[in-house]
Amino acid sequence: MKSYELREKFLSFFKEKGHAVIPSASVIPENDPTVLFTTAGMHPLVPYLLGAKHPEGKRLANVQKCIRTGDIDEVGDTTHCTFFEMLGNWSLGDYFKKEAIAWSWEFLTSEKWLNIPKEKIFITVFAGDDDAPRDMDSYNYWLSHGVDESHIFFLSKKHNWWGPAGTTGPCGPDTEMFYDTGKEKCGPDCSPACSCGKYVEIWNDVFMEYNKTAGGKYEPLSQKNVDTGMGLERTITVLQGVESVYDTDVYQGIMNRIKQLADKEYGESEEITRAYRIVADHIRTSVFILGDQKGVTPSNVDQGYVLRRLIRRAIRFGLKIGIPEGSMPEIAEAVIDQYKDIYPELDENKKFVVDELHLEEKRFQRTINQGLKEFSKLIRKLGNDVKVIDGASAFRLYDTFGFPLEFTQELAAENGFTVDVEGFEKSFRRHQEISQAGAAQRFKGGLADHTEETTKLHTATHLLQAALRKVLGDEVMQRGSNITKERLRFDFSFSRKLTKEELEEVERLVNEYIEQDLEVVCEEMPLEKAKASGALGLFDSKYGNMVKVYSIGDVSMELCGGPHVKRTGELGRFKIKKEESSSAGVRRIRAVLLEK
Ligand code: SER
Repeated sequence: MKSYELREKFLSFFKEKGHAVIPSASVIPENDPTVLFTTAGMHPLVPYLLGAKHPEGKRLANVQKCIRTGDIDEVGDTTHCTFFEMLGNWSLGDYFKKEAIAWSWEFLTSEKWLNIPKEKIFITVFAGDDDAPRDMDSYNYWLSHGVDESHIFFLSKKHNWWGPAGTTGPCGPDTEMFYDTGKEKCGPDCSPACSCGKYVEIWNDVFMEYNKTAGGKYEPLSQKNVDTGMGLERTITVLQGVESVYDTDVYQGIMNRIKQLADKEYGESEEITRAYRIVADHIRTSVFILGDQKGVTPSNVDQGYVLRRLIRRAIRFGLKIGIPEGSMPEIAEAVIDQYKDIYPELDENKKFVVDELHLEEKRFQRTINQGLKEFSKLIRKLGNDVKVIDGASAFRLYDTFGFPLEFTQELAAENGFTVDVEGFEKSFRRHQEISQAGAAQRFKGGLADHTEETTKLHTATHLLQAALRKVLGDEVMQRGSNITKERLRFDFSFSRKLTKEELEEVERLVNEYIEQDLEVVCEEMPLEKAKASGALGLFDSKYGNMVKVYSIGDVSMELCGGPHVKRTGELGRFKIKKEESSSAGVRRIRAVLLEK
């Protein structure tokens, strides 16, 4: 079966079961300042999982483009990718375990659908603990479909629980479906819990029936949801009976192009195979980031930094297999060819994607060879005694030769060295003075654009949200924001057009807050405390427990990565340029700051 058939089958199956098919959201989250990328199908649906009404109804199905860079070091094995597509079906307070399990089983095993032999499928179910009981319902549903007891494993929360995405919020037990690759067991205890590769997870049905509170309690949710995720790449690997995701049709055109460009043979050695796969994976992900055209280009902050790291890492591994300089755009074209029928935006934005890759490659090519030489000199100088690269040297590689920190860390590790990250951050801060957030944190998220103009507009956005809520009520919640040097764009939930009077009042209020020259205070606190104190924001960050909360006088309190001005008096005059509809139930305001 080809990958396009899997997508089609999945969506038609769930259409038959009364689901509305919704499009993939962007890989760049629209309404969540706390994460850099859409990491799972549930991410763009969080407001609906929390009870907001979805315009398409209570049963949804989709294929979501996702990016997860947490496992970037694993890329190059048989299953890990930084970009992947997740097939999902969703019940927003509609059906629950019985139907979800029945449909998963039918889709996987029925001749009409995937026709996977039943004996190849293994199941895991939540074993129960002090927080929530053993999931006997799921267990019994599986048995009722004829799954043999010996194929069902009860596992702990570590394995069979999903969410909350942050520290509080909707979550619940899950039941996962694995495919037995037929490899030998790695030992007597080998089970789907083990990562030896015998069992590959292909689908996860999450039953969101609890809300984890700030106090760490699991309370039953009034709306019980189903969130399922089937990894397209992994499932197609199984269906095509190939060794790795890179040997499936989703990668075929891309791998072929790399083979033409490289002077080393794929499969020649483990190291070469890994390098091939890293180039393929990283350029594929870069194309999807650029292809959404959300203003992300290679840079030293936020998503741009991740993008830069991916491209530069691809170039470095490309060198290992003899890919000539300037080839990344060609590989990108192969990615676009592969996906343009499914994601037309890639083809529509082709020129932009290719140009950006070309530029970034040129920027890096200018310095990479010199940087690599510099690096070799450095480790020769340090010799066998000191196995640590000091912060100032790592910073020089970053600043002068464009080596992302993680890149230097990898090179160091390959040579048995480590890097003094704290020292690097110190130099970084001294030179840039842009943020207290650690440079190493940037890969996970943190630093925002720090020009004076955008900083002011960030603060203005908080004031705007506060004023809108004051004038229009608590229905107003941020749905997205986008800031350039010139203007801010703010999307928020509200059901109708604003009147002229309302807009004037909002503008007047913001200017009043500016006149009052309110102090802007940033506090770091645990997510739970932020939530309990009433700060606004989407509490579904997957990254760490500490968050930043910005307060402006007693006008506004929001979860935000910053940066912000020190006092509102710095902002100038606030002017709304336009108010319009953005999508169903969401309004959009564009505004600027003018000189006083
Ligand atoms: N959210 C779950 C996952 O990412 C199921 O979709 O696995």
